Amino acid sequence: MSEVFAAITGASSGIGRATALRLAQAGCGLLLGARREVELEAVAEQARPYGGKVAFRWLDVSDPGACEAFVDEFHRRSEGLRPVLVQAAGIGFFGPVGRWDEESARAAVETNLVGAMRIASLSAAWMRGRQARIVHVLSIAAARTLPNSAVYSATKAGLLAFDRVLREELRRSGVLTTSILPGAVDTPIWEEGKGPDRREMLTAEAVAETIAEVATAPHDRAFDEIVLMPPKGIL
Ligand SMILES: NC(=O)c1ccc[n+]([C@@H]2O[C@H](COP(=O)([O-])OP(=O)(O)OC[C@H]3O[C@@H](n4cnc5c(N)ncnc54)[C@H](OP(=O)(O)O)[C@@H]3O)[C@@H](O)[C@H]2O)c1
Repeated sequence: MSEVFAAITGASSGIGRATALRLAQAGCGLLLGARREVELEAVAEQARPYGGKVAFRWLDVSDPGACEAFVDEFHRRSEGLRPVLVQAAGIGFFGPVGRWDEESARAAVETNLVGAMRIASLSAAWMRGRQARIVHVLSIAAARTLPNSAVYSATKAGLLAFDRVLREELRRSGVLTTSILPGAVDTPIWEEGKGPDRREMLTAEAVAETIAEVATAPHDRAFDEIVLMPPKGIL
């Protein structure tokens, strides 16, 4: 069994789900969080045969109490192991500037930025000195200009700025922070509306492979920022 215990947000679908299964294969213990418990349970069932301890709990990252309970359980279950927080929870939000409803824009900010900052902060409070890692799934939209993605890009660029500060504040206390910036990935996030050709996108498994490499790496190396693109680049 691995020494790594990973808590994964957004584990019910897409990149989070693929990461859960990849880390289960590596023998890691897991705590899975998202709002859809039936889907979470199905991921947990698929992960358990690999032998690690797998738990799941309802989590809405925009709910401060739920975030606290999730991080408390992560703290408790990772006792004596190397804790790795993987934050993959997120929602897409696309449309030209000015043509969005404020409620949806607010939900994107609450989920992609405020929720992620909250969970990272709660985890950092006890991770020091424990060979821990924090891995955030951002987006290439954090760094490149993509039309029709102003709000989404703002949430991801905001989290990149947060990560850069967090990384420097924590790295000397044994907590290493990684920001992963993927290009388009073929996940259910693309099921609504028109998008690029899904056959040209990265697979969720390819992103999960990269996250797993970071999560299980020895602590003698830090992966600060990783840009992971489909071979054709921006699609
Ligand atoms: N697909 C892409 O092209 C792409 C590219 C770059 C970056 N990303 C980023 O990758 C991450 C994962 O996205 P994905 O592509 O895998 O999409 P996905 O399949 O739609 O997965 C999104 C996950 O986030 C969870 N989630 C959403 N809102 C939540 C909330 N309020 N509280 C807790 N969990 C919440 C969803 O679970 P529930 O609905 O069950 O809560 C789901 O598990 C996102 O941050 C996304 O921005 C995606």
